[in-house]
Amino acid sequence: MSVMAIVGAQWGDEGKGKLIDELASRTDYVVRYQGGANAGHRVVAGGSEFAFHLVPAGILHENVTCVIGNGVVVDPRGLLAEMEDLRKLGVDLRRLCISERAHVVMPYHFVLDRLEEECRGVEKIGTVMRGIGPAYVDKYSRVGIRMADLLDVDQLRAKLVSVLAQKNRMITQIYGQQPLSLEEIHTEYVGYAQQLRPYVTDTEALLQKALKERKSILLEGAQGALLDVDFGTYPFVTSSSTVAGNASTGAGLPPRSIQQVLGVYKAYITRVGSGPMPTELFNGEGAALREVGHEFGTTTGRPRRCGWFDAVVGRFVARLNGFDSMAIMKLDVLDGMPTIKICTSYRMGDKRLTTPPATPTEMAACEPVYEEWPGWMTSTSNAAIWDDLPEKARAYLQRIEELLETPLAMVSVGPGRGQTIHLRDVEV
Ligand code: IMP
Repeated sequence: MSVMAIVGAQWGDEGKGKLIDELASRTDYVVRYQGGANAGHRVVAGGSEFAFHLVPAGILHENVTCVIGNGVVVDPRGLLAEMEDLRKLGVDLRRLCISERAHVVMPYHFVLDRLEEECRGVEKIGTVMRGIGPAYVDKYSRVGIRMADLLDVDQLRAKLVSVLAQKNRMITQIYGQQPLSLEEIHTEYVGYAQQLRPYVTDTEALLQKALKERKSILLEGAQGALLDVDFGTYPFVTSSSTVAGNASTGAGLPPRSIQQVLGVYKAYITRVGSGPMPTELFNGEGAALREVGHEFGTTTGRPRRCGWFDAVVGRFVARLNGFDSMAIMKLDVLDGMPTIKICTSYRMGDKRLTTPPATPTEMAACEPVYEEWPGWMTSTSNAAIWDDLPEKARAYLQRIEELLETPLAMVSVGPGRGQTIHLRDVEV
């Protein structure tokens, strides 16, 4: 039995989907605990590629129960489309459960996400336009609609009557747009409720029972710790808490039940959307990382900003989450790089920083201080064990391990199942 949280350790897109799919073969439950359909967890299996937005990435394993936890915000329309795609591929969805406490992303959340972004102009966050921020705002303003409300036709109407009046005032009076129709939304969402009803349950009780029965549970983080609403590069962050501390709240499990926290890093770094990124590359090296690493958003298709591995934010995140171990993904993307750099500190004016500053202005003023490592200039994608890796690749990984003060447990050298080197046994 074990409960393990898997946390993205950069700005998202670290390759958590592949890792969760791989570890799920040895687990009983996979649970999403925060975020929503802004996530895009990619899994390559059996010659097909799957992109998960809300369904936990463990669903491809037939013995795994997959849970969308209370901390997630659920877009029913998107979820049903994702479920339909999976069904067509023969995936059995009877193993999917959705928390009755999870909040619902409503049509006005999508509209407001777009209008608020347009209004921010050059200061836009670059959200993925899935209504995530506005849905979390409503949750904390205590006007959110939860899955349990969605299933109750009258309760849904009563909630909509008061919330929609307020949202329509914003949409029409502040943004000068057309109001949304209560009847249309009600009819549409009652339809979704009928389809989702069999999946909605008390997932907290389900997981607590699993805990008692000594089952193993993987808590699947979405986005990354640098997008965390408290510790990320605020305000250029997502609206949920993406760090390990939130895994228990978002799943409904006691904090002390989580025995292990695994951090997932890419061998370099990427970011989508706005906000400071000290090691961003604007030259051919950045373009090469993007091309070789296929660094285009799973949810939006936007090109990702690419840069060298940043050990300053890397160590900050490792400490914040208390990583027991880490996985480094996409090492093979660096195979053709003659020289590889690691940022070990920042220069800000005449100061040397080893932790990231709190404000985006200071962070944007930070210049990376690099050490250079010779590239290995050979393919690593067939490496099955540590000793198969070129010596220079091992040296690079060991240096990251040293800088982050976190033991390396896994190295991924390609998108496929099996293209992962296991260094330490991560017990699931
Ligand atoms: P939101 O989560 O759509 O509100 O977007 C806020 C910021 O988080 C934007 O910079 C997005 O690009 C970024 N973001 C949200 N979800 C992901 C993700 O799954 N991977 C990478 N970046 C993300």
